[in-house]
Amino acid sequence: MLTPEQRTIVKSTVPLLQTGGEALTTHFYQIMLAEHPEVRPFFNQAHQANGDQPRALANGVLMYARHIDQLDQLGGLLAQIINKHVSLQIEAAHYPIVGACLLRAIREVLGAEIATDAVIDAWAAAYQQLAGILIGAEEKIYADTAAVPGGWRGARAFSVARKVAESDEITSFYLTPQDGGALLGFKPGQYIGLRLVVDGQEIRRNYSLSAAPNGWDYRISVKREPGGVASGYLHGQVREGDTLDLFPPAGEFVLAEGDKPVVLISGGVGITPTLAMLDVALQGQRPVHFIHFARNRSVHAFREAVDARQARHSQLQHFYVYDEPAIDSADPAGSEQAAHATGRLSNAQLAAWLPASRDVDAYFLGPKPFMRQVKRQLRELGVPEAQTRHEFFGPASALD
Ligand SMILES: Cc1cc2nc3c(=O)[nH]c(=O)nc-3n(C[C@H](O)[C@H](O)[C@H](O)COP(=O)(O)OP(=O)(O)OC[C@H]3O[C@@H](n4cnc5c(N)ncnc54)[C@H](O)[C@@H]3O)c2cc1C
Ligand code: HEM
Repeated sequence: MLTPEQRTIVKSTVPLLQTGGEALTTHFYQIMLAEHPEVRPFFNQAHQANGDQPRALANGVLMYARHIDQLDQLGGLLAQIINKHVSLQIEAAHYPIVGACLLRAIREVLGAEIATDAVIDAWAAAYQQLAGILIGAEEKIYADTAAVPGGWRGARAFSVARKVAESDEITSFYLTPQDGGALLGFKPGQYIGLRLVVDGQEIRRNYSLSAAPNGWDYRISVKREPGGVASGYLHGQVREGDTLDLFPPAGEFVLAEGDKPVVLISGGVGITPTLAMLDVALQGQRPVHFIHFARNRSVHAFREAVDARQARHSQLQHFYVYDEPAIDSADPAGSEQAAHATGRLSNAQLAAWLPASRDVDAYFLGPKPFMRQVKRQLRELGVPEAQTRHEFFGPASALD
């Protein structure tokens, strides 16, 4: 339990965290990843290298220090951290490692004059408090997930039943549990964790479930990233009949229940969770406006699948936007005719594709610059911010 004096000390470090938080968390990761090889598999090296993960953690620590007197105001942030941890199966035993490295980083970055014993003691107590909250919530999810039919804890072996190319860059994997047991349902928009061993190194990655729950298999759809360890391995090495280790579905970017029209806006591989949302929304009567951006026809995945749904469901309207004409496209007419628009989408065009009433549930996902633009456009077109949701295919960051 933090004393009132310790709370005051933690709050007094907010200005330091505002300016130096990223330096602190960068140093923290350097210490931890060098000295604790047992936690390395959890952390995506690309997110360390581009600074996204130190930035996300620095923001988390800053928000925590700011709200140390009103932790209830951290709701959204805590849920996001808990979901990410659960999807990668972070355990209580890992917390002391993070705690010790964080305190050491505070000491080394701030120096003995600022990081006095009182400051270190206050942050040690604050860390204990936050770790206790996260461990408690994560343990509850692990236990609850293992207790429901088809649920499990830790890794479960799945067979690759089918591997299907969806575009020049994206391939789907249909996964069935090897034990032949029941399969946990999930909410459309959620993602699984995948544990792989590539060149002798264990790695963990998240992939959105790209088809609605059906009780017998999960589908993930993976874009091959240039130089990407997991996606390169999945595309290049994994064959039908192979085994993949999965952690149960998690995530908060899920289709809200209700009868408001649904607006799904995706860029590139960001289409994956919106496909599961699309199919679940089409099981009811809700109007669905599906807008997808791709570079060109050859990298546009699931086009036929969405077109086919349009033919069957009059409540669906779909629109495609391409950046550039496709050179080697299978579409002889070229991508400009194949898309509903090319280049940057104006507010007027987007407005014409949205329902007349802006009382909608809107979801968007894609590269960060794309997401910034969509967020701004939805705001400018009057979609209430509380009714828009987004997800990141990596550590969370600010979009404003
Ligand atoms: C919630 C969530 C859902 C997701 N859903 C999907 C999905 O449905 N489909 C999908 O395809 N992806 C999805 N992702 C992304 C996925 O988890 C992986 O991040 C993605 O597949 C890339 O992983 P990788 O191992 O192939 O690439 P990485 O090895 O992580 O590399 C990514 C890029 O960084 C570069 N890089 C790697 N290491 C370094 C380094 N040390 N220095 C500099 N550059 C480096 C690589 O060259 C590459 O270009 C999701 C992510 C999250 C968080
Ligand atoms: C009080 C302690 C902790 C806090 C405040 C914290 C905070 C965070 C935050 C803010 C994120 C980013 C979430 C997002 O972007 O969606 C994150 C992600 C993550 N955390 Fe923690 N965390 C803590 C403990 C741990 C522990 C003990 C581990 C395990 C060693 C861990 C492993 C991870 C991993 C692997 C990610 C995802 C990294 C990535 O995307 O590359 N965290 N955490």
